[in-house]
Amino acid sequence: MNEAQNYFFSTFSLDPNVHDLFFHSGATEGIGNLIRGFFEKQPEAVFVYAATDHSCVYGHAKRLEKMGIEVIELDVDKNGVLNLNSLQSLKNISKPIFLNWTWVNNETGVVWPLDQAVQLKQSLKNCIVHVDAVQAPGKVSDWKNLSKELDAYTFSAHKFGSLKGVGFTFISPKVEACSIILGGGQQNGRRSGTENTYGVYSSMLALQELEALYDSAASEKNLKSILDQVKTSLANAGEVVALNSPYRNTNTIYMVFYGAKSDITSVAFDLAGVDVSTGSACSSGAIVPSRVLMAMGYDELQAKSAIRLSFAPNFTSAQAKEYADKISAIVKRFA
Ligand SMILES: Cc1ncc(COP(=O)(O)O)c(C=O)c1O
Repeated sequence: MNEAQNYFFSTFSLDPNVHDLFFHSGATEGIGNLIRGFFEKQPEAVFVYAATDHSCVYGHAKRLEKMGIEVIELDVDKNGVLNLNSLQSLKNISKPIFLNWTWVNNETGVVWPLDQAVQLKQSLKNCIVHVDAVQAPGKVSDWKNLSKELDAYTFSAHKFGSLKGVGFTFISPKVEACSIILGGGQQNGRRSGTENTYGVYSSMLALQELEALYDSAASEKNLKSILDQVKTSLANAGEVVALNSPYRNTNTIYMVFYGAKSDITSVAFDLAGVDVSTGSACSSGAIVPSRVLMAMGYDELQAKSAIRLSFAPNFTSAQAKEYADKISAIVKRFA
């Protein structure tokens, strides 16, 4: 555990004197318990999150509301960028704030840079910022540069190639939250229960591999070449989501088709051997509108008609060309 902990601190540019690090089963557990533990200790505080946050944050927002805790949902624009007016309104809050900041959105690939979170924190009176960093490793160029100014960061290790069922959180000891998982007091009482040492070791190996193979400049270039070709082929049949967001990750293309729901388009991709996610199927497989797209201003039909393509951190320019040709051929059929 210690070897892994040291490695994680140095890889993510954090200082063990400023943050603690503990392991858990993944971000759903890590984030959920952090939110619950914080509000159990400080029920007078305000929970602030964004309409496009992952469902593991959204679910807690709804639960806190039912418990009578003040919850504020921040709006985003059509490009998934946070609405500045809703941020301004936070400045009048005198109670403590717990703000969830999603660094890279899991559906759209839109990036909210950490320096903006730091500025926001500094402009507020008493604000704890937790960063949902699950989608950052191997998907943005600065994924290893965590800011020590922010209070907590949560990762899921399987998102960067580790065994499933392990994640970790860096947290400032200044954050007043109680541990929700009680028991033997492992990991300084932050998360009781026997540690998943295989999982932790696997995370370390996966991170080492990712550091060796991710080339952000090449990924960005390859993604752009696919995007350029796909945009042209898509013509009036749909649009690439958040195309005009100032910051985007280097591995996701999210498309909305006008009038062709994702259960139809996904079959066409599948038959051509291109893996896609729809972002809008519920657990029974039925097509439900994407909550994230609805929050960005898409209508219900469009929010049922999205296809997401994700590329590996080491995809090559030859693969990019092959993907671009295949995707364009499919997209043209719906144009
Ligand atoms: C941004 C984001 N946050 C949280 C989670 C939850 O992670 P896990 O399913 O590993 O618990 C995910 C999973 O995809 C995610 O993409």
